[in-house]
Amino acid sequence: MDNNPVMDPAMVTDTFAFIIHPINPKRDVSRKWPIVGKVLTEGQVNYLSAYFPPVYISEINGVRSDATGNECKGWFIACPFTPQRMLELPVEMVYDKIVACGRKAAKLGAKIMGLGAYTSVVGDAGHTIADRLEIPVTTGDSYTIMMAVEAVRKAADEMGIPLTTATAAVVGATGAIGRVCAQMLANDVAELILVGRRPDAVNTVRELCEGKHAHVTAGTDMSAIYKADLVLTVTSAINSVIEPQHLKPGAVVCDVARPRDVSKLVAEQRDDVLVIEGGMVEVPGPVNFHFDFGFPPGKAFACMAETMALSLEGRYEDYSVGKDLTVEQAQEIGAICSRHGFKLSGFRTFERPVTDQQIAQVRERAQVNRRRWSPQTA
Ligand SMILES: NC(=O)c1ccc[n+]([C@@H]2O[C@H](COP(=O)([O-])OP(=O)(O)OC[C@H]3O[C@@H](n4cnc5c(N)ncnc54)[C@H](OP(=O)(O)O)[C@@H]3O)[C@@H](O)[C@H]2O)c1
Repeated sequence: MDNNPVMDPAMVTDTFAFIIHPINPKRDVSRKWPIVGKVLTEGQVNYLSAYFPPVYISEINGVRSDATGNECKGWFIACPFTPQRMLELPVEMVYDKIVACGRKAAKLGAKIMGLGAYTSVVGDAGHTIADRLEIPVTTGDSYTIMMAVEAVRKAADEMGIPLTTATAAVVGATGAIGRVCAQMLANDVAELILVGRRPDAVNTVRELCEGKHAHVTAGTDMSAIYKADLVLTVTSAINSVIEPQHLKPGAVVCDVARPRDVSKLVAEQRDDVLVIEGGMVEVPGPVNFHFDFGFPPGKAFACMAETMALSLEGRYEDYSVGKDLTVEQAQEIGAICSRHGFKLSGFRTFERPVTDQQIAQVRERAQVNRRRWSPQTA
């Protein structure tokens, strides 16, 4: 982090807001209101969330561009719905709440708004929300794609897996993020396995990925990922989809999904695989979020970083909106973010930092377990 003091907020003209929401109702509500989180049950928090207005969380300052020295400031605003509620409620009701968050953001002075986690998945992935707001919107998905693919490449390197001969899998390959990640990984690896829920849709993605470096297969059966050295998972499922028996010893899994795709049982039962969270980014400047969203100081999700970078760049236009994102868009925001000083940060696994010692242990365990492993015994 930068040691120079934060600029006087009144002098800062580039601004943004970022919408967050609770994922684990009790834990996340406790972050803002410890007593409410303690007293209410999970079911009560979930139920009552439908009647909550958007919640002002905090001001964010000290995001400073390495390229220009300019700063931007922003605000966290919480949409009170959990992913479960967003799926259960009529989509119009969810849009209304997110649009109300956007109006609050605009009143605070935000010139662009980022849609965090599930608020970016709802309905048409930002189009309707952007149409109903005066300020532009991004889901942050393009930089999430860049950082997820970079994390897979880096983790492969640290685990001693040569990319050009590796087998990779993308789970949730038909989604906005998964589809572009698949196309990028098709340039890197020897075999690419795509997993989706709908055969036609996943075959369409397979066609997009063909003609590059990888031999590509597609299907709907999760057991296909047994063969993968590298797994990038990014579904919008609200429960875990990857269980201990799906992974071979030594596999690296980059879990980009929020809520996460990888079951906690993997952490408990598989000391021979490396699970990393996709998308943790170092923010340039002496940033202070004035709110603990579960990351170490100075780090943000890639989708937050995209929103901040667009603000530093003065690009006040809808950016990653809708389900049809492109490799070119991901590369463009990658270049913008990198110019301003955003970069992939260290790895985390189930909310804890991954140490070099842990990587060495996983490699060691994998070597032992590989001798007796086969897809049938997994
Ligand atoms: N870490 C970050 O910084 C960050 C940033 C943005 C988003 N995200 C997270 O990334 C995830 C995906 O976002 P997205 O925008 O790509 O979503 P999306 O476009 O809606 O795609 C979701 C994908 O998940 C699949 N899916 C949905 N429910 C499933 C289930 N129950 N089992 C298996 N597959 C299922 C969908 O299949 P169909 O095509 O058949 O529907 C689709 O392939 C979300 O969890 C979101 O919160 C993370």
